[in-house]
Parts: sequence; structure tokens; C-alpha cells
Amino acid sequence: MKREAPAPAGRPPLLRVAGLSVGVKKGKNLIHAVRDIGFHIDPGEILGMAGESGCGKSLTALALAGLLPGGTARTAGAVFLRGRNLCAMTDRELRRVRGREIALIFQEPALSLNPLIKIGKQIAESLELQGEGDKAAIPDRVFALMDKLGMEHPQRLAQCYPHQLSGGACQRALIALAVIGKPKLLIADEPVTALDTTTQSQILDLLRSINREWGTGILFISHDLGLISRLCNRVLVMYAGRIVETGPAGAVFGHPAHAYTKDLLGAIPSWERKGTPLLNIPGKVPALEAYGPGCPFAPRCAKAGARCRAAFPEAVRLEPRRRVYCFAPELEQDA
Ligand SMILES: Nc1ncnc2c1ncn2[C@@H]1O[C@H](COP(=O)(O)OP(=O)(O)OP(=O)(O)O)[C@@H](O)[C@H]1O
Ligand code: SF4
Ligand SMILES: [Mg+2]
Repeated sequence: MKREAPAPAGRPPLLRVAGLSVGVKKGKNLIHAVRDIGFHIDPGEILGMAGESGCGKSLTALALAGLLPGGTARTAGAVFLRGRNLCAMTDRELRRVRGREIALIFQEPALSLNPLIKIGKQIAESLELQGEGDKAAIPDRVFALMDKLGMEHPQRLAQCYPHQLSGGACQRALIALAVIGKPKLLIADEPVTALDTTTQSQILDLLRSINREWGTGILFISHDLGLISRLCNRVLVMYAGRIVETGPAGAVFGHPAHAYTKDLLGAIPSWERKGTPLLNIPGKVPALEAYGPGCPFAPRCAKAGARCRAAFPEAVRLEPRRRVYCFAPELEQDA
């Protein structure tokens, strides 16, 4: 077991987040909902971000893209895209980066599409914004893109308004808009949560093919560990605004080192455990106002001691790409 070492020098990762904290206003106070988190995404990698509701996933995603809403603010840290500090950019520069290099998709595609404009026109306008100069070629490019992204009957769908489409078709349309410029990074915040399981699988396939074909790195945010294990190379587990564990998906899901990851995995049904009762994590997630300096999982952890309540543990590196933030991690050989 080694203490975390600095990342080796060389080609910068696609995305590097360093010491990021996000505060939210509660009355006169600013309370930290995301606390000193750091992680990276390599080019072409799919990183899953998991954690229960309210742990800070969406605020992290919005902070990466410079889109934090009013009443919230980045209070510390920096975000580097291919070595460039996005936090030092002007609004104009950031808008350019969002248009060309970073794209976002959210849980409710219908809310992100313009309800008054037909789908085909929305895609055509985005193509124009991306610099497609040949106007005569745009309709064919729209249909080709819709076809490529698995939208059946593109000519007919192009004539529809968002409310006339199913949830899955809406999400595909939103993905089409997001990836028109072949972004280097796609941030997908709960993109399939509102969909039925068949459509979920189709959207996961679509994200996988975008990743393979264009080398787009993806931050896939979900509270569903099953979806993350199917799609992602690496996973990052958050709890109460902190990263508590990160590593290759197979290693983290196969041998969770943090007590929270272990409990979270125990709480989902699986074929192997069919017929056995679900494990409920005793206690509840602390309210924002109750976040303290120690390990946020201490009130629910059977192994919690005085030092756990006093300070948040430093990263412990278990393998080159595997970190756990715990004073007494579960090691594979202990299992
Ligand atoms: N605009 C806001 N103003 C005030 N508080 C906010 C705001 N946005 C988020 N929060 C609070 O910050 C915390 C983290 O919220 P966030 O939306 O990032 O959680 P999440 O992990 O995405 O949850 P979910 O899985 O439900 O989407 C929550 O306690 C939430 O209530
Ligand atoms: S740091 Fe302490 S309280 Fe937190 S998970 Fe590890 S043992 Fe439990
Ligand atoms: Mg969210």
C-alpha cells in the first residue's frame, strides 16, 4: 500500500481536475457540496461517476463545463482540458470550447431541445454553427448523421417537433446535437435514467460507438452501478461531495476497497444474489449542512474510529490507477 504519487510527466490527459470545490449558498452561508476532488480522463476513455442522489455529481459536471447555476460557485481548484486551464478562460473562450471540444447531455433531453423548432432544423442549425459552409449539402448531412446515430426514418423524424418523439428518440436527437462537432469530451449526466431498459441499452451502444469511432472521451454520470459497469473503463465513486474510491471498473466492482462502495454494491440486485435480500446501508447520507472535516461515511461505517471523524483520509494508492480514500481500506488479500 503506497501513498499517492504525482502523475508521471508526459502527454497531458484529456481532462484533469485538480482540487475542485463547489459551494452552494444556503442563506448567508456558502456550504461546500463538492469538496477538493481531483481526477482525470484519458483521451478516448469512458469514466463512470457514481454516487447517491445529492453527492455532487451534477455540480461537478456543470463546474467542468463552466456552467454552474446561480447560487453556486467554484471556490477552489482548476479544470484542465488538454493542458489548458478552463478556469482561467474568458466567457467567450469557454463558449468556444463548449461548442467545439466539450459537449453535455442531460437526463431530460426534451428540456434541452427547443420545443418550437423541428428536430431536423435544430440539427441543421448546429451544423451551420459548426462551420458547414455548403448550405445545399446540409439536409443530406442531417439525414446521414441521424442515420448514423441510429435514428430510424430520419426524413420523417426530421419533420417532428421534440414533443412528438419518444424519450429514446429525443435523447438520440440531443446526442446528435452534442456530437456534431466531434467533441473531444462528452459529459453525459444521467443520460438514460428516464428511459426504459431496452432504450437504455441502445443509448449505451450509441455512446460506445461514438467513443470508439471518434475517440470521444466520456464522463458518464449515473447512480446506477450496473449501467456504469457495462459501459465504463474506469469508475469514480462519490459520497457527500468527496471522491471516496476510483479505479478500473472491474477492480472496483470486483473488490471494492471503500466501505461505501462495498455497501453500494451490496445494495443492488444481481443474478448471483437472486433470492437473497438486498443489503440496506444503515443510516443516511448527511445533509449538506452537516458535512464535517472527517470521512463523511463515518456515521455509517462499522470501522469508523476517532481519526476518521477528525480528518478526511489522504488517497491510498492500491495499484497504479486505483485510489481509495480511507484509513482502513479493504484490501484484496483481506477478502
Ligand atoms: N443550484 C443550487 N442551489 C443550491 N443548492 C444546490 C444547487 N444545485 C445543487 N445543490 C445542492 O448541492 C448538492 C449536490 O447536488 P447535485 O445536483 O450535484 O447532486 P447529484 O449527485 O447530481 O444528485 P442526483 O443524483 O439527484 O442528480 C445537493 O445537496 C443539492 O441540493
Ligand atoms: S475512513 Fe474510516 S469511517 Fe471512512 S470509510 Fe474508512 S474506516 Fe470507514
Ligand atoms: Mg444530478
